Amino acid sequence: MTSILVLNGPNLNLLGTRQPEVYGHTTLADIEALCTRVAAEIGVGVTCMQSNHEGALIDAIHGARGSHDGIVINAGAYTHTSIALMDAIASVSLPAIELHLSNVHARESFRHTSYLAPVVIGLICGFGAEGYVLALRAMAGHLAQNDT
Ligand code: DQA
Repeated sequence: MTSILVLNGPNLNLLGTRQPEVYGHTTLADIEALCTRVAAEIGVGVTCMQSNHEGALIDAIHGARGSHDGIVINAGAYTHTSIALMDAIASVSLPAIELHLSNVHARESFRHTSYLAPVVIGLICGFGAEGYVLALRAMAGHLAQNDT
């Protein structure tokens, strides 16, 4: 069965209470439950993981090789700073989708830069928790299309 890794980065464990005016009231547990539900609906497997540590996210990306077919990643602030995460995604040769709850392009200029953008197949931002549903559907569609 096709399997997708959903990775959430720093501070996303605080969703629900973290700046709800920006990120909404949905918790990470709600998002992970939503991902599990949608994955079952569309017939793919999903594993969700969150870490506040750059190295742990890199390890998870490396670990996805051989166990997952695609990665959906909300790298939080590491999006705007981490060449190491960019290299990790480029190194594993798995399709990845960059995701943000907020519309990063309508926010501070430092959020307009993404180190991940050049190495992902696409980006979704600004749709809150619904973005995870869109990303899972997009990844499942991409993987089905590229199935050999
Ligand atoms: C975020 C946007 C980032 O700029 C920010 O640092 C986050 C969350 C989002 O989901 O909107 O932590 O990735």
